[in-house]
Amino acid sequence: MQTKLLVVYYSSTGANYQLAEWAKEAGEAAGAEVRVRKVQELAPDVAIDSNPAWRKHVDATQSIEVATTEDLLWADSIVFSSPSRFGTMASQMKQFIDLQGGAWAQGKLANKFVTAFSSAQNPNGGQEQVIQGIYTVMQHWGTVIVPAGYVNMSTFGAGGNPYGTSATVNQEAEIVNAEQVAVAAKDQVTRLVQITEAYLKGSN
Ligand SMILES: Cc1cc2nc3c(=O)[nH]c(=O)nc-3n(C[C@H](O)[C@H](O)[C@H](O)COP(=O)(O)O)c2cc1C
Repeated sequence: MQTKLLVVYYSSTGANYQLAEWAKEAGEAAGAEVRVRKVQELAPDVAIDSNPAWRKHVDATQSIEVATTEDLLWADSIVFSSPSRFGTMASQMKQFIDLQGGAWAQGKLANKFVTAFSSAQNPNGGQEQVIQGIYTVMQHWGTVIVPAGYVNMSTFGAGGNPYGTSATVNQEAEIVNAEQVAVAAKDQVTRLVQITEAYLKGSN
């Protein structure tokens, strides 16, 4: 049975989009059917236009579909990816999560396998807290959290965050140590798909 993997991200300047692309690559390589979805942008144009990198990224990703409740219901497993906003997930991602009260109340979000990525400008800019914040919500939903752990050596090369792969993003909005972060992100998603698949096989 093919695992249905949803990758849902928010990105202003492209780092979390890149993480989402790596997730897609690894998910497909592991045999999953993958949907990549961005969450709805909520910032006004005046804010987006004040940062050329933000405007450029918004324009470049127009064709990516916006995540919906149906995407969540479709998925067997989910990758969330959000930048740090003062140590919490981006409000755009939180808004998407907060719109899922109906599905949550009907128990439709439970038993999905979930993992998370994050990013910040500084190596300790809140990446761990962002992932933990996402995992807190996932516990309320009754999902099965699959953290990176120290299962793959790639975690060490990417900064050693066992909660989930996190990126440090420089002033040019590039991921620092990108090659190693990519490997860690992909290993995390491969494991997510493998664990989801084993569960799906056992429960059908
Ligand atoms: C409102 C705001 C708050 C932020 N807070 C922090 C922070 O506290 N620490 C930090 O290192 N980076 C912080 N950042 C930087 C972002 O985390 C960084 O630009 C982001 O991770 C890049 O990801 P993206 O390219 O996917 O948007 C903040 C950025 C914004 C716009």
